[in-house]
Amino acid sequence: MRFDIITIFPSIFKSYLKESLIRRALEKGSIEVNIHNLRKWADDKHGSVDDKPFGGENGMVMMAEPISRAVKNIRKGEDSMVILFTPRGKKFNQQKATEFSNYKQIIMICGRYEGVDERVAKYVANENISIGNYVLMGGELPAMVVLETASRLVPNVIGKESFLKNRKVGESFIEYPQYTRPEKIEIEGKERKVPNILLSGNHKEIKKWRDKKGKIIR
Ligand code: ADE
Repeated sequence: MRFDIITIFPSIFKSYLKESLIRRALEKGSIEVNIHNLRKWADDKHGSVDDKPFGGENGMVMMAEPISRAVKNIRKGEDSMVILFTPRGKKFNQQKATEFSNYKQIIMICGRYEGVDERVAKYVANENISIGNYVLMGGELPAMVVLETASRLVPNVIGKESFLKNRKVGESFIEYPQYTRPEKIEIEGKERKVPNILLSGNHKEIKKWRDKKGKIIR
């Protein structure tokens, strides 16, 4: 699976891609991530990618043409999904992550400034995605969110295949409470113990407890 991220702040992704499971997935070749500086597709030698908004207002808007050119150059074939991040987009969830993980190529456009020329949302992107009801400074964090949620669904990215299988409920996931050693600890003067059922060795009962306490993430 291949991810292409279009941004005016490529360095934001550097340390993120060098850590933990994402780093290993990259090393193993389970995923490929390319970070593209949008300024490469600017019209002028200054690398301008923004301009004043029609209708007047403060701030700047990202121009459609550099983004459109970038996508045209980066797109590899039919089996690709072009995502624009915007707080006005469709809400991202586990189901979307699963859907996205089935594409060969995911192209993500990170907006900045006061927004992106609406013609990108309408005629360049296949999907407009929001990661929640709040306004961020740009689409870079949403791109990491989609990259991470989709990547962990790619075979071999999070270790054992059985791990994903055990946690899956249809296309959703069950997330239940976890405990580790020691069995007994003290927090602010009170004794806090691991639930007895988890120490019982009774796998059938443990599964029942996990199903009861778990939350299904859709
Ligand atoms: N850009 C700014 N805020 C955003 C959000 N909540 N989701 C996606 N992109 C955004």
